[in-house]
Amino acid sequence: MVYTKTMNNPFFQKDIVSSEEYIKDDITYILALTQRMKDIATKFGGVSILSHKILAALFFEPSSRTFSSFITAMQRLGGGFIPMHGMAHTSLQKGETFDDTIQTFANYADVIVLRHPDVGLAQRAADIAPCPVINAGDGIGEHPTQCLQDLFTIQDALGSIDGLKIAMLGDLFHYRPVNSLAKALVHFPNVQLYFVSPKGVGIQERVQSYLLNHHMKFFELESVDEILSDIDVLYVTRVKKEYMSEDLYAQVQGAYKVDMEMVKKMKKQSIIMHPFPRLGEIDEAVDNDERAVYLRDQMKNGMYARMALLASVLLPEVSI
Ligand code: CP
Repeated sequence: MVYTKTMNNPFFQKDIVSSEEYIKDDITYILALTQRMKDIATKFGGVSILSHKILAALFFEPSSRTFSSFITAMQRLGGGFIPMHGMAHTSLQKGETFDDTIQTFANYADVIVLRHPDVGLAQRAADIAPCPVINAGDGIGEHPTQCLQDLFTIQDALGSIDGLKIAMLGDLFHYRPVNSLAKALVHFPNVQLYFVSPKGVGIQERVQSYLLNHHMKFFELESVDEILSDIDVLYVTRVKKEYMSEDLYAQVQGAYKVDMEMVKKMKKQSIIMHPFPRLGEIDEAVDNDERAVYLRDQMKNGMYARMALLASVLLPEVSI
C-alpha cells in the first residue's frame, strides 16, 4: 500500500510496549509510511517535521543498531535527543529510583525510548510517564520496533508476507525479537512458522499460547535441514549468553551455524535475516549471498521504520 497524507494515524501519543497491541491496520499504515520515509531519506536525507520535538533514549543495556537508528531517525526528521547510552552518568548512580528517573526525563522529552534488561519495565515506564514510551527491548520480553523493521524487510524483499514459510532458528527462549515478530505475524493469512532451536531454549510458552489463541500454525523442530529448501525466510538469532546460566550456555553455544552449504539448499527467492549482533551463527561467507539481507536492508530499514513510528507518535497527522 502507498502512504497517503489522508491515512489515519493510529499511533499518535501511544505507548509502544508490545507487538500484541498492533492490529493489522496499524501494521499496514506503518509499513506504508516506512516506505515513504525510505524514499525521503534516500532522496533528501530527511525532512524537518519534528523540529522542537525531543526524544530521550534511555538505554540500560548495550545497543548499536536500536540506539543509533532511533537517534538518526530523530535527526533525519529535524528533532533533538537526549542520548543516555548507558545510565552510568545519571543520578540512578546516586540511588535515584527507576520511577523518578522516568518522571525526570519525561519533563524534558516528548517521547521516551527505553531499553532495559527486565521484562515489564517498559510497561512500568509507560504507566509512569506522561509522554509516550517506546520499548526498545525489555529483557526476554519484546522488541516491538525491531518487529516493524523485520516486517518491512520481508515485505520489501518478497513482495508480500501472506502465505510465507518462516523459520526462526536459534536461542528462541531469550531472544525478544522473535516474540514480537511471531505475534505480529498472526495478522498475515496462511503464514507458517517453524521454531528451530536446541533443547532448553525453545520458543516461550506464553508466545505459543498467544499464537494458538490467534489460530497461527507453527511447528517446533530441532534441525532446520529438512525445511531449508521449502522456507521463504530464515530468521537467525544469537545465543543470549548474558541471560543464561553458564551450564545452559555451554550446552547451547555452537549448536547451530548457517553456512553456504545450507544456503545453497534454500530457494533463490528467499531471504536470510538476523537482528544482530551475531556471534558466529552465520558464517561470514554467507554475507555476500544476495539472500543475506541482515547487514544491508534489515539494518537500514530499522531507521526508516523508526522515522515512521516517531513521526506518528509525535504528530497527529504525518503530512509528507
Ligand atoms: N537488533 C538489535 O536490537 O540490535 P542492538 O542490540 O545493537 O540494538
